[in-house]
Amino acid sequence: MTAPSPTPSATTASPKPTPTKPPKDTRKGSQLAKPYTVNGIIVVSKKHRITAAYRPPHPTGPYGLDAPAAAALTKMTAAAKADGVRIRVHSGYRNWATQNASYQKALRNYPQNISFYAPAGASEHQTGLAVDLWDGVTWSLPMANTATGKWLFKNAHRFGFVLRYPNGKTKITGYHYEPWHYRYIGKTDAMKFKGNSLTLEEYLHLA
Ligand code: DAL
Ligand code: ZN
Repeated sequence: MTAPSPTPSATTASPKPTPTKPPKDTRKGSQLAKPYTVNGIIVVSKKHRITAAYRPPHPTGPYGLDAPAAAALTKMTAAAKADGVRIRVHSGYRNWATQNASYQKALRNYPQNISFYAPAGASEHQTGLAVDLWDGVTWSLPMANTATGKWLFKNAHRFGFVLRYPNGKTKITGYHYEPWHYRYIGKTDAMKFKGNSLTLEEYLHLA
């Protein structure tokens, strides 16, 4: 009898390991027009902001999403439809000025809900990689319990999207739970977010 040969590590290694120590965000001045990027993944948050000059490199389609995100959304919407589930876009790309107006208005009118709003420069919507989704009927937190909310929660990672602000992770993400806000990071990385308990900050060792 020959001993079984060990599994070659190449087949078990993760295809794109995350760094154990991310590079420091050393951007300043005009460099802030480029987003902080870790392991090829753009990070925009309250801690890692961008200036008004940043725009998605390849804005595509009616919602101005960056091309890879727009293509993935089209595929995901078709797959949901095949399952009898409707996905509608509530909000896609937003520029700095629009984000600023929305944040300032929220500060004045709904300060108690401000953790749902990103200050200008701290919103992923400015990257064209984030999209707010719903069924066209039920918005806000109840959206999580709609067929659309449940389908997205279960399937979005297969198309490269992650639930960016999971429940109970506000201290890490800086934002309230948002069952509608999905962020495109690509399929390989998104597959590791199955179950939606992981945040991008944890995945990239930023938290
Ligand atoms: N609602 C999220 C935090 C945003 O405005 O980007
Ligand atoms: Zn959003």
